[in-house]
Amino acid sequence: MESIPHKHHVVFLLLLLFPSPLVFCQLDYKFYQYTCPNLTNIVRYGVLSAIANDTRIAASLLRLHFHDCFVNGCDGSLLLDDTNTFKGEKNALPNRNSVRGYEVIDTIKSSLEKVCPSTVSCADIVTLVAREAVYLTGGQFWLVPLGRRDGTTANETAANEQLPSPFESLENITAKFTSKNLDMKDVVVLSGAHTIGFAQCFTFKPRLFNFAGSGKSDPTLDPSLLENLQRVCPNQDDSDTKLAPLDPQTTNKFDNIYYRNLVNKSGLLQSDQALIGDNRTASLVDYYSKYPFLFLKDFGVSMVKMANIGVLTGQNGEIRKNCRRVN
Ligand code: HEM
Ligand SMILES: *[C@@H]1O[C@H](CO)[C@@H](O)[C@H](O)[C@H]1NC(C)=O
Ligand SMILES: *[C@@H]1O[C@H](CO)[C@@H](O)[C@H](O)[C@H]1NC(C)=O
Ligand SMILES: *[C@@H]1O[C@H](CO)[C@@H](O)[C@H](O)[C@H]1NC(C)=O
Ligand SMILES: *[C@@H]1O[C@H](CO)[C@@H](O)[C@H](O)[C@H]1NC(C)=O
Ligand SMILES: *[C@@H]1O[C@H](CO)[C@@H](O)[C@H](O)[C@H]1NC(C)=O
Ligand SMILES: *[C@@H]1O[C@H](CO)[C@@H](O)[C@H](O)[C@H]1NC(C)=O
Repeated sequence: MESIPHKHHVVFLLLLLFPSPLVFCQLDYKFYQYTCPNLTNIVRYGVLSAIANDTRIAASLLRLHFHDCFVNGCDGSLLLDDTNTFKGEKNALPNRNSVRGYEVIDTIKSSLEKVCPSTVSCADIVTLVAREAVYLTGGQFWLVPLGRRDGTTANETAANEQLPSPFESLENITAKFTSKNLDMKDVVVLSGAHTIGFAQCFTFKPRLFNFAGSGKSDPTLDPSLLENLQRVCPNQDDSDTKLAPLDPQTTNKFDNIYYRNLVNKSGLLQSDQALIGDNRTASLVDYYSKYPFLFLKDFGVSMVKMANIGVLTGQNGEIRKNCRRVN
């Protein structure tokens, strides 16, 4: 009866064969291919210059992306300054006096506005910057699907409630990841980001002097590391903001030593060391401690997953001109 397919069927078939980001509102590796062809170089140069000025900034930029994605999705909401109508995320407890790198994003954004004005979202810049931060510190390169749009609001309460704390149980941290469509493997893989950067003493001090209210130190902390940390972070409030490296062996190098540290009872945060204290995650930690290349590869895969959280595409959101405020 219907030997010739109906016109709509042909269109539908073509859509199946050639899925277009405009039709399905998905991210696309070549999103800015024609509209901002030099995007990758400009971002890489911006991150490279920032690292030349301050080695730690690579770690800070990687964390900035994580804290953006976990609140309102990867929509650049973390970059918004407070306004009369909403309180931004910058002053939420996990971010205040802790997240760094906003100026680096501003500098890259203004370079981009000169060559492709109102084209590249702040959310995509943050995502690409995180990839470059890993790549330029020795990690593996991965391709980033693009086309995120910028959110028009931020949520301080959500930042306080949804970002994981280093004092939380693995159970609770996993629940926070699961609610973002990530799983327990992603917790292990993405925690590997703690192979670079620093933490303030208050984020692990209870382990040094009063672990779980015991009046003693954490028995899962290596004694010689404990001694070093007690020197950096003496048991008084004015040491709270002093810094210790998350991976003292290779602080600025993106490698798998983080996992080898965990095997050696040398994780800095309680939430790091907990990964080897639970038999659902310990075997993966052990595996990454032995196979650096497999960690670096899996890290890229989990980063792409994280970078997909709650993205705005198509006509949603906007392309900000200035990452600090909505247009
Ligand atoms: C699994 C749950 C996580 C917890 C509980 C956690 C907690 C923390 C804490 C407390 C700090 C120190 C902050 C400060 O002292 O100001 C920190 C630093 C850092 N975090 Fe995490 N984090 C987690 C996951 C992640 C993820 C998923 C990433 C990225 C993919 C990441 C990347 C970093 C980096 C690179 C630093 C060093 C930042 C710098 O030196 O400026 N973290 N994290
Ligand atoms: C692309 O950007 C880089 C970094 O800013 C710059 O050095 C290079 O000249 C640019 N290339 C083109 C073709 O504009
Ligand atoms: C260099 O790094 C320091 C420390 O993070 C920062 O205060 C300063 O603004 C940076 N300068 C430039 C030009 O990026
Ligand atoms: C902010 O997030 C909280 C919970 O995380 C939610 O209850 C609240 O409705 C959000 N506020 C806005 C304005 O979206
Ligand atoms: C885990 O989450 C529950 C429910 O939010 C909370 O009551 C509990 O204190 C948390 N436990 C830890 C160790 O963070
Ligand atoms: C872990 O401990 C083993 C045995 O003590 C040692 O050979 C190795 O160098 C340590 N690894 C790290 C990263 O400290
Ligand atoms: C894993 O740990 C749970 C709870 O501690 C225990 O019941 C279970 O037997 C353990 N499984 C293995 C394979 O060790």
